[in-house]
Amino acid sequence: MTANELRSKYIAFFKSKGHAEISGKSLIPENDPSVLFTTAGMHPLVPYLLGEKHPAGTRLTDYQKCVRTGDIDEVGDPSHLTCFEMLGNWSLGDYFKKESIAFSYEFLTSKDWLALDPRKISVTVFAGDENAPRDEEAASIWKENGMPEGRIAYLPASDNWWAAGPTGPCGPDTEIFYWVGEGLPPENSNKGNDPENWMEIWNNVFMQYNRIDEKTLVPLPKQNVDTGMGLERTNCILQGKTSVYLTEVFKPIIDTIEKLSNYTYGTDAEKDKSVRIIADHSRSAVFILGDQKGVSPSNVGAGYVLRRLIRRAVRHGMKLGIDRAFLAEIAEAVIDNFKCAYSELEENKEKLF
Ligand code: ALA
Repeated sequence: MTANELRSKYIAFFKSKGHAEISGKSLIPENDPSVLFTTAGMHPLVPYLLGEKHPAGTRLTDYQKCVRTGDIDEVGDPSHLTCFEMLGNWSLGDYFKKESIAFSYEFLTSKDWLALDPRKISVTVFAGDENAPRDEEAASIWKENGMPEGRIAYLPASDNWWAAGPTGPCGPDTEIFYWVGEGLPPENSNKGNDPENWMEIWNNVFMQYNRIDEKTLVPLPKQNVDTGMGLERTNCILQGKTSVYLTEVFKPIIDTIEKLSNYTYGTDAEKDKSVRIIADHSRSAVFILGDQKGVSPSNVGAGYVLRRLIRRAVRHGMKLGIDRAFLAEIAEAVIDNFKCAYSELEENKEKLF
């Protein structure tokens, strides 16, 4: 399966479960000065998660380009990215935990859909704290769906409570992981006791609270579901690869970096890291510049983040021995690879060069 096929399958699955497909939005959030970029699929849906009626109904699905730079220092490892695609499905006061978990498990394991090995799946649920109780309900729904007790880890809010920002809709979540270690996972292995060998692929948030301020959490008028599946990571595990950079999502970009630098990816650990950083940052820069509301490099806000991404890519290019301006050639490879899902990249091409 390719990333393009995974994207289509995801949308088709949720349409078959009564969801309306909506289009993903700009990377620059509307009416939200608290964030510089759309960092999750739910961002454009905040007003509807807070109670406004959505014109497309109460079950929605889409794919959304996102930029997150919070863990930029991790970029260069096999799975962290500053720009990624999130596949999402939402219930706006419609179904809740039972259906949400059953949908996810069916999509991942059914022979008609992703057909992943259920023995390689583990989950986490919220352990409970002074804000909200331990999520026994989510855990028991997982068990009803066939998840062994030993594959369920109960973790604190730092892992299993999701909020888009310091205020706004939030709630406990259940995260889904896939085994990336050798062979089959040992009995009772899960994210809680073996974090290195489990890769997060999907997060189902049960959005039932609105955070008004640091101390005040009020129940939302309706119980919502917000899920986000990482396209690049899920594609990577479906292809049995050990890194997102080894999939076709990044191959044409890495091929271009190899040509520009005369370096063969996979021969030197330090240089490989530079290749991955250039690939990630140049892809982010192209998505930001080529966005429907694209920004330009500047000294402030989103423009500053863009400038930093470009500078870091250039610096790592120099480390690889590239001694001329090279990002335009990589940008061409990025546009070619993603224009079928994101036509704005081609439409806004002149902003890039
Ligand atoms: N909003 C949730 C996340 O981004 C699904 O992980």
